[in-house]
Amino acid sequence: MGCGTGVIATCAALAGCDRVVAVDVNPQAVVNSQRNASRHGVADRLDSIHSDLFDALDGAERFDVVFWHSNYVLAPDDYRYANVHERAYVDAGYVTHRRYLEQAPRWLTPGGRALLHFSARGDLDELRRIAVECNRQLHIRRSAVFLEGEQEVEHLLIEVATRAGQA
Ligand SMILES: C[S@@+](CC[C@H](N)C(=O)[O-])C[C@H]1O[C@@H](n2cnc3c(N)ncnc32)[C@H](O)[C@@H]1O
Repeated sequence: MGCGTGVIATCAALAGCDRVVAVDVNPQAVVNSQRNASRHGVADRLDSIHSDLFDALDGAERFDVVFWHSNYVLAPDDYRYANVHERAYVDAGYVTHRRYLEQAPRWLTPGGRALLHFSARGDLDELRRIAVECNRQLHIRRSAVFLEGEQEVEHLLIEVATRAGQA
């Protein structure tokens, strides 16, 4: 999800995933991902699709893994995007994160995993609050601190799970 350059999707294909679907709301990211897949010889296994989250996907699709390195910076609800590129960094009111938490687990094969790459630049408390509203549980599976400029920033790999009995 939100493939951007396509680096993660291409690496997934190179690592042995037999089929990868790379999705982005930015049409240029979709083209970029397809080009990178071709450049690295995995275009036969990687489909790039222009879509607002899962909207343009075939409803019968199911995935072993859904992963989004998200635009985790929270902007005010009424924030107006100057261009689609800003959607790479900023999510107004976490509207897209809410939809991802609701929808991602529904696209999984049995035993599949929905994952979110989030960071301390985001608002984890707000994400947790939204998860409760959506009947989702957030499990931090991995964390690591990286130097970004002069700042140390914690990055998190979060698994999004359904609560027992919830779809
Ligand atoms: C942090 S960037 C991911 C960068 C990517 N990992 C890379 O290395 O190039 C977040 C991505 O999510 C995409 N995105 C934001 N909102 C989206 C939506 N509603 N549907 C699909 N993609 C979305 C952005 O366009 C952006 O490419």
